Amino acid sequence: MAVTAVIGAQWGDEGKGKIVDLLAEKAKVVVRFAGGDNAGHTVINKYGKFALHLVPSGIFSASDCIIGHGVVLNPEILIHELDNLEKHHIDISRLSISDRAHLIMPYHILMDGLEEDARGGSAIGTTRRGIGPAYSDKAARLGIRAGDLLDKKVFYDRLKSVVEYKNAIITKVYNHKPCSVDEIYKTYCAYGDRLGHYICDVTQKIENAALNDVEILLEGAQGSLLDNDLGTYPYTTSSCSLAAGACLGSGLSPKHLDNILGIYKAYTSRVGAGPMPTELHDAIGESIREKAHEYGTTTGRPRRCGWFDGVAARYSSRINGFTTFALTRLDVLDELKTLKICTAYKLNGKTLDRLPASITDLMKCEPVYEEMPGWMTDITKSKKLADLPPAARRYVERLAQIIDCPVSLVSVGPDRSETIFVK
Ligand code: GDP
Ligand code: IMO
Ligand code: MG
Repeated sequence: MAVTAVIGAQWGDEGKGKIVDLLAEKAKVVVRFAGGDNAGHTVINKYGKFALHLVPSGIFSASDCIIGHGVVLNPEILIHELDNLEKHHIDISRLSISDRAHLIMPYHILMDGLEEDARGGSAIGTTRRGIGPAYSDKAARLGIRAGDLLDKKVFYDRLKSVVEYKNAIITKVYNHKPCSVDEIYKTYCAYGDRLGHYICDVTQKIENAALNDVEILLEGAQGSLLDNDLGTYPYTTSSCSLAAGACLGSGLSPKHLDNILGIYKAYTSRVGAGPMPTELHDAIGESIREKAHEYGTTTGRPRRCGWFDGVAARYSSRINGFTTFALTRLDVLDELKTLKICTAYKLNGKTLDRLPASITDLMKCEPVYEEMPGWMTDITKSKKLADLPPAARRYVERLAQIIDCPVSLVSVGPDRSETIFVK
């Protein structure tokens, strides 16, 4: 394994943080390539329990941890995260931040809230962290980048012109009080003073590592079904969460990509609005949420839970080209007598085996289930596939068949050590 992209294969929160932390024991470089602090990656290891929003989950082991330019960066959140890591004696000097990464500004957070409120009943259920507005500004060429913090004069001039434009929208469209250029300038200059020495051009460093066959992990955020192009648009995030985004957001050429590891949880969850055909509104859904503590790492919102959606899973595998997959949270299903897997959708009397592009169609899709017996045994101590009860092994094998890709890891608990390496 030289360069591996680690990609969320569902609607986020698949356990990317745990898997990246684990694989980073062997990798030297870890690059977070997309999203912002809408992400919450949980890592549990010998240093404690951490919810990382921006810092790559490899920070505990890898010698280089890089925030790539595909990330939108809220400096305040990053500084809190770094302070917390330092408190736990983690070496944060191994961090670097791409000078091309766009900054989340106070008006992005404000606009995210105003836009969501204005959507009313059709709100996306965003994390209100300013993610959409920051990516919109990037596309509109109104963004301010981390590198801009390194020259205060350049930063002030850029900020002033952008804030004047933003204030026109904030006051005239939303009837809200304007943002103060001077306040933002002062706050962000302080952030620049604190973060300045981490900010640099990281692309050469990443390319050199790849050319020298150094093990690199490209850490994704969110999940493939939240991707803005191929996900359940418009109930998506504003970045590219796919394997293609790993190259786009790190600056590494696709020719260097050796492995694409998809992360799936053994059932399905989703936070925020949007279609989710296998969502359970009954006691089983509730029991999964409580057993797995399915509450958002970033917002604390209860996650919607449901059966494994094989149609969405296979779609995700195809659009990413997964070379292998990791299955997480298998232990959460330990107490269920019968398990259901969605193998197709029914739409207007027709059977579909691929996620439709139309959100209206997807909302109408009825899952077609097959059933498998549960194992009703605690599997958290399993160290190899053979330790799993036969019913659990059959479940894993069936998912691999549906996803159409070999399984390389099975996770049976949140800790680094609670993992079965298949190959
Ligand atoms: P991420 O955003 O993909 O990194 O995932 P999150 O950290 O938001 O959510 C995954 C949750 O599942 C976290 O609370 C993890 O500690 C936990 N977790 C990861 N793998 C396992 C597992 O195999 N079993 C159990 N029970 N929990 C897991
Ligand atoms: P990780 O990396 C789960 C969801 C939000 C909302 C939609 C748009 O921890 O897997 P945004 O704030 O991005 O504009 O919200 O995307 N969302 C996530 N759901 N895990 C995440 O990240 C998510 N990041 C965004 O809940 O539905
Ligand atoms: Mg998460």
